Amino acid sequence: MKNAKLFLIAASIIVALTASAEAGPREDIIAGFTAEGAGAPNPDNGKMMFNKNYASGKPDTPGCTTCHGSNPSQGGETRTGKPIDPMAVSKTPDRFTDKAKVDKWFLRNCQGVIGRECTAQEKVDFISFMMTQ
Ligand code: HEC
Repeated sequence: MKNAKLFLIAASIIVALTASAEAGPREDIIAGFTAEGAGAPNPDNGKMMFNKNYASGKPDTPGCTTCHGSNPSQGGETRTGKPIDPMAVSKTPDRFTDKAKVDKWFLRNCQGVIGRECTAQEKVDFISFMMTQ
């Protein structure tokens, strides 16, 4: 009887931990990009993408860091000086949790910086890097 109760407590803790690690709007968004063809998220590639200066987009925005700043844990600012919250998920917990927002800004910023849409792989890499920050 005592063992059964302990088992139930242990089982519910495991269920709760698994749920917090794997489920949520950010994970759903990543799963959506996986369905579009992305492989496993690669945070190292996301880091390179964030730090890269592209020569293919608008000359005044060569990289993601132009607006987001070079440190994801710190905020950035738009071309007109409006503050942007840090991209690091640890600093801005609701980052990448709203699918419409994620799609809107990837489209706009990838076109501006790279001169084309980002691939599903680039999107999961970028998000996964920010999840480590
Ligand atoms: C011209 C300025 C500018 C540049 C350059 C820029 N961004 Fe952004 N980005 C913004 C602004 C403004 C927002 C919306 C405000 C916010 O989310 O705090 C934003 C938001 C985002 C979001 C939505 C985040 C969320 O919480 O859902 C993503 C994704 C994003 N940017 C990716 C990128 C990537 C990738 C690059 C480089 C290829 C990039 N941005 C370059 C200005 C910029």
